Amino acid sequence: MECITISGINKLQMPIVGLGTWRAKPEETENAVLAALENGYRHIDTAFNYNNEDAIGTALKKWFEMGKGKRDDLFITTKLPNMANRAKDVERFLKMSLQRLQLDYIDLYLIHMPFSFVCNEDNLTPVIKPDGTFELDNNDNIATWKVMEQQVKAGLSKAIGLSNFNLEQIRNIYNTAEIKPAVLQVELHAYLQQKELRSVCRELNIAVTAYAPLGSPGANTHFTTKYNYSVSDFPDILGHPLVKEIAKHYNRTSGQILLRHLIQQDIIVIPKSSNPERIKENINVFDFQLTPDDMDKLNKLDKGENGRIFDFLFFKGVEKHPEYPFALKIQ
Ligand SMILES: NC(=O)c1ccc[n+]([C@@H]2O[C@H](COP(=O)([O-])OP(=O)(O)OC[C@H]3O[C@@H](n4cnc5c(N)ncnc54)[C@H](OP(=O)(O)O)[C@@H]3O)[C@@H](O)[C@H]2O)c1
Repeated sequence: MECITISGINKLQMPIVGLGTWRAKPEETENAVLAALENGYRHIDTAFNYNNEDAIGTALKKWFEMGKGKRDDLFITTKLPNMANRAKDVERFLKMSLQRLQLDYIDLYLIHMPFSFVCNEDNLTPVIKPDGTFELDNNDNIATWKVMEQQVKAGLSKAIGLSNFNLEQIRNIYNTAEIKPAVLQVELHAYLQQKELRSVCRELNIAVTAYAPLGSPGANTHFTTKYNYSVSDFPDILGHPLVKEIAKHYNRTSGQILLRHLIQQDIIVIPKSSNPERIKENINVFDFQLTPDDMDKLNKLDKGENGRIFDFLFFKGVEKHPEYPFALKIQ
């Protein structure tokens, strides 16, 4: 498996393809992780608030017990949730994730989002006010980062990073950090290619992980069911005629073309699937190469900010948070 070198206290190898697990229900997650490991995945992406860390822990334990591999063969990422993005909560939430995952350390701990909500301590979810808006908490990302660094020094995470931070927020952390962010995880796919962010990350030696690399089909149904919120004109990138045409030419699937387009630019991808066939398909991307001409055609699908799916406006009121990271689209 191809890897990207990232920096913690020491250098680490991060497999360029990982298994995404957002929206994977606990009952399907265990089988998905075992199927992924069987098919050569060694990198799993989860988060405290995906509610499937327990199931991932069970799968990993089974895999170790079957003698298929050992802890340091794997790269596991999890994330500090948005209702705990504050210095005093970092260690507590990381330790809860470790316990759920049945691990002594994780490879990469990310601040999931730059903004924070007040936490309901009864069920560890964000507080939602009677009018449906989320109760915002003024957080200090630099203070949070200092405690993230302590987790690396304590050996609880090999590396630390950011997710959904904008350029200015990344620079603020970078400029004050003793341990620099190793990875930035952001939405990244053919319609939102994040060229400026990627160029700054290259300059700062921050590796980039693409979430929603297939355009997150099915996410809109989730937004509607969970938050009664819908993204207008939700894109179908897999069904784009150019992607389909290139797929046909290489005798591959649209998914494989979209993933190959990213990994060929050294972007780490974490496609989510709970389907054994698609899990296999999504890692079977190392035995072909897209020509410069096809790469160029795919590069031209970029819609910039208009391609963004995850603006987090389903967290009603989040745009009023001082750390809300995105420019709002003019309606
Ligand atoms: N940091 C963040 O804020 C953040 C936000 C979103 C996501 N993420 C991470 O990134 C991962 C990936 O993003 P995502 O899950 O939103 O979107 P994605 O990986 O682009 O798409 C996943 C969806 O595509 C389907 N799928 C998977 N492989 C396919 C293929 N080869 N052909 C057609 N359909 C396919 C999956 O269904 P089946 O399961 O039925 O195959 C699932 O519905 C997440 O799971 C999560 O780990 C992070």
